[in-house]
Amino acid sequence: MSKPAVFVARRIFPDIVDRLREHFDVEETESDQPLPQPELIRRLQGKAGLFATGTERIDTFLLEACPALQAVCLMTVGYNNVDVAACTARGVRVSNAPDVLTETTADFGFALMLAAARRVSEAEAYLRAGRWKEWHVDLLVGADVHGRTLGVLGMGRIGQAIARRGALGFGMKVIYHNRSRLPESVEAPLGARWVSKPQLLAEADHLIVVLPYSPEAQHLIAARELALMKPTATLTNIARGGIVDDAALADALQQGHLAAAGLDVFEGEPTVHPALLECRNVVLTPHIASASIPTRRAMCHLAVDNLIAALTGGEMKTALN
Ligand code: DGY
Repeated sequence: MSKPAVFVARRIFPDIVDRLREHFDVEETESDQPLPQPELIRRLQGKAGLFATGTERIDTFLLEACPALQAVCLMTVGYNNVDVAACTARGVRVSNAPDVLTETTADFGFALMLAAARRVSEAEAYLRAGRWKEWHVDLLVGADVHGRTLGVLGMGRIGQAIARRGALGFGMKVIYHNRSRLPESVEAPLGARWVSKPQLLAEADHLIVVLPYSPEAQHLIAARELALMKPTATLTNIARGGIVDDAALADALQQGHLAAAGLDVFEGEPTVHPALLECRNVVLTPHIASASIPTRRAMCHLAVDNLIAALTGGEMKTALN
């Protein structure tokens, strides 16, 4: 019996492709760039499964053009590139890759927050430029993180993992904002307190944005919200570009309305707003929060597990529909 055909839309680890080959007739992209949608559609003809990342746009147009498609399995937790409702309507199964990246992503979020507060990028640039001539009492002084107030916008799995680091490792007071309050059993061990969004903005010394992208979340943090923050505060975004208004953020950083920022995601990435590139007080990284070797491998394996389940009549581990 012939194996179901699947397409792997981005370069992944070769041994993981070998694992796919045990179950499927596999075609891989030769390019390590996101495929333009017409090319993706061409490659998906006759394919039952797609191994995808957060960059392939899966919408009604693609689904109409790829009638053989039965399963789209993402190796990312974010799935704002997939129209899940349109997939459901056509019987196409969709999965993402939560959980396996939670701790790694939380580590990175915390690292960015620390780097922003303690001016790590700025200090390194200063040293590399040969500007370090002597010690000064206020040379590159920054903000403390330990013992300060951590504000988490989006207290899901990753938000809670960051809150754990803050509360248990750094003695931080944790406040958070979610649409709904979490159970006491989650809040109590972290000493976490639900607050309104304006309160979160006003009280946090270090605000971290971790909520999933949705159209309602577009520019959830814009000029008005930034104006509510303390001028000594930092803002870290590891969620998705577009949730923070990058132009407004650059303006706040330049005007001294905010002390520093750490950004791993950007509106329109990989393009970065030119005003942010001009700011010394922002740490910028290219969407790598989940990028440890074990975690990226685990994300790929989870997508493979889901493809195998979806195309052999099994239960996907992390189904979205
Ligand atoms: C995710 O898994 O969504 C990460 O942001 C990588 O894209």
